[in-house]
Amino acid sequence: MTDQSETLTTRETRPDLQNRGYVLTRFGDADAMELRDLDMPQAHEDEIVLRVHASSVNPVDYKIRDGEAPFVEESALPVILGRDVSGTIENMGPDAHNMLRRGDRIVAHMGEMVRGGHARFVRVKAMEMTALPDNVDMVEAGTMPLVAMTAWQGLFDHGHLREGQSVLIHGAAGGVGHVAVQLAKAKGAKVIATAGTDDLDFVRGLGADRVIDYKKEQFEDQVADVDMVFDLVGGETRDRSWSVLRKGGVLITTLSEPDSETAAKHEVRAETYMAHPDPKALGQVVAMMADGKLKVTIAERHAFEDIRTAYDRAENGHLRGKVAIVME
Ligand SMILES: NC(=O)c1ccc[n+]([C@@H]2O[C@H](COP(=O)([O-])OP(=O)(O)OC[C@H]3O[C@@H](n4cnc5c(N)ncnc54)[C@H](OP(=O)(O)O)[C@@H]3O)[C@@H](O)[C@H]2O)c1
Repeated sequence: MTDQSETLTTRETRPDLQNRGYVLTRFGDADAMELRDLDMPQAHEDEIVLRVHASSVNPVDYKIRDGEAPFVEESALPVILGRDVSGTIENMGPDAHNMLRRGDRIVAHMGEMVRGGHARFVRVKAMEMTALPDNVDMVEAGTMPLVAMTAWQGLFDHGHLREGQSVLIHGAAGGVGHVAVQLAKAKGAKVIATAGTDDLDFVRGLGADRVIDYKKEQFEDQVADVDMVFDLVGGETRDRSWSVLRKGGVLITTLSEPDSETAAKHEVRAETYMAHPDPKALGQVVAMMADGKLKVTIAERHAFEDIRTAYDRAENGHLRGKVAIVME
């Protein structure tokens, strides 16, 4: 049984501490997630228990639910999905940082696929979280961690993007892409972005220097010698991207492992990676949000009780930015 077992059985007696969460008991469609009463999680060592205010749906959530993603094996079920949370501290472990107080506003990137945020209360590790200033919207923050850490780590930790360089971002209107455009611009890079016809103005508004309509145009006819391709789409979009890189450039992808022989043939570096919690980078993104330098776009808000609609819209809605799940 996973370490989530502590949350999955008995009913709390105090109504204000009644935990409830969406439990995935089998792989499948929306019906595979059941809203159940749960035990309150316990904070160990430097952990906290967060009273969740907002969360989001990421593609990894519905890919795991469908049994499509390899990150959770059937033997690990039941699990609770959800990589992002914001909320307030409900209680703290004995070694929690001495500056933390009950009621503090927190945002966290849930780092383990078997311990997710689609519940009223969640156990959060110290290295997954950072404090949230009063002027940062709790709902925007609650949809930000995974997409922001993915964008940050792809552009900077793996891509080493520097001021003055050029980057082609595929999938720029999506969750990761719309944050990546803003982070790359804030770094002083030149940003070329691909997006669908209806999303071109949105992506321009994020600061992209040039936006190419992937539904009508072939980006490889218009772009050459870029320093970096940041691929959030994969498939034939990635296959057509090698030729737009300069020699010595880099292709970073959030999807499957890129072919090393093709990379060598084009004399470029190519990598994939899995985003991981990084409290320092998370704190820097929160500071950018507090300073008005980064805006997370909420496409739609759905109540916790209506999580199925949130999943459906994230998967099928072709939305701009993020779908938020909000506690009423
Ligand atoms: N490795 C990791 O750690 C990691 C972390 C986060 C995400 N990911 C993966 O990265 C991908 C993107 O994540 P996300 O959260 O940004 O997803 P998302 O919010 O669904 O966004 C995807 C975006 O790509 C656009 N798109 C689709 N086909 C395109 C094309 N041919 N050219 C340009 N844009 C296209 C979509 O636009 P339309 O509305 O027109 O379809 C949408 O705006 C997902 O596959 C996700 O699983 C991996």
